[in-house]
Amino acid sequence: MSAAAGGVGGEAGVPVRYYRLDEIQKHNHSKSTWLILHHKVYDLTRFLEEHPGGEEVLREQAGQDATESFEDVGHSTDAQELSKSFIIGEVHPDDRSKLKKPVESFVTPVEDNYSWWSNWVIPALSALIVALMYRFFVAEA
Ligand code: HEM
Repeated sequence: MSAAAGGVGGEAGVPVRYYRLDEIQKHNHSKSTWLILHHKVYDLTRFLEEHPGGEEVLREQAGQDATESFEDVGHSTDAQELSKSFIIGEVHPDDRSKLKKPVESFVTPVEDNYSWWSNWVIPALSALIVALMYRFFVAEA
């Protein structure tokens, strides 16, 4: 096998097995289905038929980085735990920069104009209206 074993670094001192991208990409068929999630390599061949989301979605991602699709689905904690049983190694550190960059944040920045209006103009106008009403009623009394 062309996969090179790396140094000791896995949990409980088990050596991490590193796979090059060209090796991973070859496992893109129903007889051997690998994919990458968060730089880890998963062999999902025996899970294809059991996957509650269907075989097709896994086969579409086979041999590639499926991190974004996996996260987009919002898999349960149980699914994430289960996924650990399919890890066979990690993407070789030299190949990690070739993978899609993970999405940093799902938080959409608030529009500047919107925050200016909601933080200052609306409260200031409300205060002005209250002050005018107060003067009006006090002057009436
Ligand atoms: C190690 C890999 C994976 C495991 C162990 C796994 C496991 C599961 C499990 C247990 C469910 C049931 C719902 C839940 O508990 O969240 C599920 C649903 C699903 N999964 Fe995965 N999954 C994996 C990878 C993927 C990938 C890579 C994709 C997309 C390309 C995907 C797409 C889906 C979809 C579309 C559903 C159905 C969601 C729904 O019906 O609401 N899964 N998966």
